Amino acid sequence: MSATTTQNQLIDRFGRTVSYVRLSVTDRCDLRCVYCMPEKMKFVPRTQLLTLEEMESVGRAFIKLGVDKIRITGGEPLVRQNIMQLFRNLGATDGLRDLTLTTNATQLVKYARPLKDAGVTRINVSLDTLRPDRFRDMTRVGDLKKTLDGIDAAIACDFEQIKINTVVLRNHNHDEILDLVNFCIERGIDVSFIEEMPLGQNDHHDRAVAYYSSDQILEDLQQHFELMPSTMTTAGPTRYYRLGGHDNTRVGFISPHSHNFCDSCNRVRVTAEGRLLLCLGQEHSMDLRHVMRSHPGEPEALEQALIDSMQIKPKGHDFNLNSQEILLRHMNMTGG
Ligand code: GTP
Ligand code: 5AD
Ligand code: SF4
Repeated sequence: MSATTTQNQLIDRFGRTVSYVRLSVTDRCDLRCVYCMPEKMKFVPRTQLLTLEEMESVGRAFIKLGVDKIRITGGEPLVRQNIMQLFRNLGATDGLRDLTLTTNATQLVKYARPLKDAGVTRINVSLDTLRPDRFRDMTRVGDLKKTLDGIDAAIACDFEQIKINTVVLRNHNHDEILDLVNFCIERGIDVSFIEEMPLGQNDHHDRAVAYYSSDQILEDLQQHFELMPSTMTTAGPTRYYRLGGHDNTRVGFISPHSHNFCDSCNRVRVTAEGRLLLCLGQEHSMDLRHVMRSHPGEPEALEQALIDSMQIKPKGHDFNLNSQEILLRHMNMTGG
């Protein structure tokens, strides 16, 4: 089997077309979520990061090769200095259908309107609990009110979709699933419940013990709502359900353990240092920073590297909650 490009499309050895790129613009964050990073996280020195211009070049090269959805991730993307420049320039690029953002919302009061004006279509907000004390525990440093105010500011700007992302951990927040769904119903927004992935050493909790499956969540919710599988897709890993009587809220599940979605993988990610990672759960990668810096002013070299990378996109992840083998990368280094 070999990877190909057909009519400017990136197609891997397994026939999957890459149309979705996740660009991490920083590994830094103003929160320290317990499933994402250790308390004393060591961040990448700023000198090693791609410049915003280089990130834009990467985005444009992908768009030229058929990518029509770019999600800006972090760390927390909005802590990167001058980040609006990247949103504005990508938002003005022909060929991009969906310019999206994953954020913790702490700065959305300031940024929601400029993001909308720059062409951002949808925003996903990480929110694991509605209890201020628990929020502080799960984020180690956060203030729930800031995040809730940020969510309300985004709702006021009429994005195509706002979705809450909740990583569900048994005995930490699994008892808030219903409250979180009701929170979303009240605001007419969507929610995805996520099974935790074993990225980076975690001294906070035992991941196998904290595992709470999507099927269990579905069962919990079925006691309160009628849930109907939906055909809606956002070209990401979420499986959506409609809620009887609540047309403006969908409940989604991201289930890397219980419903593997690698067969339909359409995405790659780029770290803030310019490492193109072909799978979240594997180390196969290509150094785009090196390609760009050794071929300045030659976009073709970058495009060729992206085409070549299709040869090394792996079939899927081998996440195993019970194994001692844990990826060294923490989630904030890849943005999920
Ligand atoms: P939509 O564009 O709204 O579909 O968003 P998304 O789900 O693609 O992105 P988001 O940043 O909201 O990610 C939600 C969760 O999905 C995070 O925990 C990500 O780590 C996870 N996720 C996204 N892509 C992949 C993937 O390729 N593999 C795995 N295992 N998890 C992924
Ligand atoms: N497993 C699953 N999801 C995670 N996120 C961060 N760390 C993990 C993990 N270990 C989520 C965040 C955010 C998204 C980018 O990834 O909650 O919504
Ligand atoms: Fe920051 Fe998001 Fe990681 Fe929480 S999950 S520490 S908000 S990057």
